[in-house]
Amino acid sequence: MPDITLTTLQNLKLNGEKITMLTCYDATFAQACCQAGVEVLLVGDSLGMVLQGNDSTLPVTTAEIAYHVASVKRGNDGALIIADLPFMAYATLEQTLHNSAQLMQAGAHMVKLEGSAWLSESIRLLAERGVPVCAHMGLTPQSVNILGGYKVQGRNEAQARQMRADAIALEQAGAAMIVLECVPSELAEEITQAVKIPVIGIGAGVATDGQVLVLHDMLGLALTGRAPKFVKNFMVGQDSIQAALSAYVSEVKALTFPGTEHGFSA
Ligand code: KIV
Repeated sequence: MPDITLTTLQNLKLNGEKITMLTCYDATFAQACCQAGVEVLLVGDSLGMVLQGNDSTLPVTTAEIAYHVASVKRGNDGALIIADLPFMAYATLEQTLHNSAQLMQAGAHMVKLEGSAWLSESIRLLAERGVPVCAHMGLTPQSVNILGGYKVQGRNEAQARQMRADAIALEQAGAAMIVLECVPSELAEEITQAVKIPVIGIGAGVATDGQVLVLHDMLGLALTGRAPKFVKNFMVGQDSIQAALSAYVSEVKALTFPGTEHGFSA
């Protein structure tokens, strides 16, 4: 696969071609995802749940993410690697810079932070210092204890208005990408149209610029045995993991995934 850069992703948005992204935590799966044509590999703090068996992402550390980034880098063949800054790793500006440096030096091409307009200063500082940033909005799992559970966000008009304004503020601060998790499909479409940077959805409908899923979920390996509504098990009807990964890429590109049944309404 030719190297995927921010320019590639920007051009995909401009040309209306959907961007494919999956979480990935090791070299073998990085190689398999690249063979399937997945453009973006996210070393997500979801590893705290799917690899470590925790009941939230909160216990994950920067050192653990860096270890998995280095593993993914060894199997990578051209995909853009995003690394999550885990819980409390960007609580201060100093921590933000220090921990982002660890992840970039481990092999990430971009870091991801969860939050809204309050992230603007951190994003500006990182971007000025050469670190591309993805802002994760909507359902932000690191704030599960504030949110009161893993719930759809932006369902009322005041919240939706705030989220639209936040997305624009984050783009102006220098964010290069937005991940929108569990928001009504219509709101996700409005946000996608309101910003020039790529918007990747998970539980956000088909109108975003691309899709991301947790690898284990889309392979039908949810630990609890019950995957969220926005997940599709791509192993169904396939005889190998490689075929399931290719089916995911084909369905995202063809706009057949996600279906309306995977989305949320206001
Ligand atoms: O950590 C993760 O896997 C994520 C995705 C759910 C987007 O942030």
